[in-house]
Amino acid sequence: MKLSRGKAEVRALVEEARGRGASVGLVPTMGYLHEGHLSLVRRAREQNDYVVLSIFVNPTQFGPGEDLESYPRDLESDLELAEQSGVDLVFAPEAEEMYAPGHRTWVEVEELTRGLCGRSRPDHFRGVTTVVTKLFGICRPDRAYFGQKDGQQAFVIGRMTRDLDLGVEVVVAPIVREADGLALSSRNVYLSEEERRAAPILQRALCEGEVTVGAGERDAEAVRSQVRRRIEGAPEARVDYVELVSTETLQSVELIAGEVLLAAAVFFGKTRLIDNVIIKVP
Ligand code: PAF
Repeated sequence: MKLSRGKAEVRALVEEARGRGASVGLVPTMGYLHEGHLSLVRRAREQNDYVVLSIFVNPTQFGPGEDLESYPRDLESDLELAEQSGVDLVFAPEAEEMYAPGHRTWVEVEELTRGLCGRSRPDHFRGVTTVVTKLFGICRPDRAYFGQKDGQQAFVIGRMTRDLDLGVEVVVAPIVREADGLALSSRNVYLSEEERRAAPILQRALCEGEVTVGAGERDAEAVRSQVRRRIEGAPEARVDYVELVSTETLQSVELIAGEVLLAAAVFFGKTRLIDNVIIKVP
């Protein structure tokens, strides 16, 4: 496995692999790898000849007062895990390498980024779509791998890739969870013992919402309120949002039909966790 800090070197290495006829899979991450990331790497390994893992805590997707400085980092452990999982190349640039002085270009997906996490993190998705476009440009992958835990992000990147004809297949892999249901996230390390004990309520409430829809409920507001009330029953939890949106538009629905995303963001102490479930109504 090779580690590179520079765009030019990554381009050259990927070109060389392509020259040998290799297909290229990219797993973009912000590091502090956990089993969720590794499941993406394994999927990429199965489907591609050459696997690139990027590790970059992207400053442009953090808002003022968010956790850019404190975001957990452990490059040494990440490199070990990447090597064990069969990554060929790790791209771990510094911020100056990714954003040259005078950077003025942004990629923005309209509408889909306004609701859900976009409401409380207004510039977040612009940062994500810009850095992912740059990573696509540098690594020129055939396929790129994202987790369903960041459900809105996965939809937004899929739409951007389609709208801009980026020629990359976006693969979205299922959420990986702890035994008690908590979705794996690098941010889980922030949780105190008490918050950690309370956090699985997020997934439990979403599952109960899904069961309610399965039992025939079609009024979206009834399901949103049920999920919200259930989460608010935990004193450690403070709801940012509970939403039920169409997977096509990511706009809130009134009547549940077709495919919808039931998603929530909840603060446990200062830690904001997200989770979601896709529900298909026949
Ligand atoms: O999901 C993440 O870790 C990040 O948003 C991503 C896609 C690597 C872009 O910085």
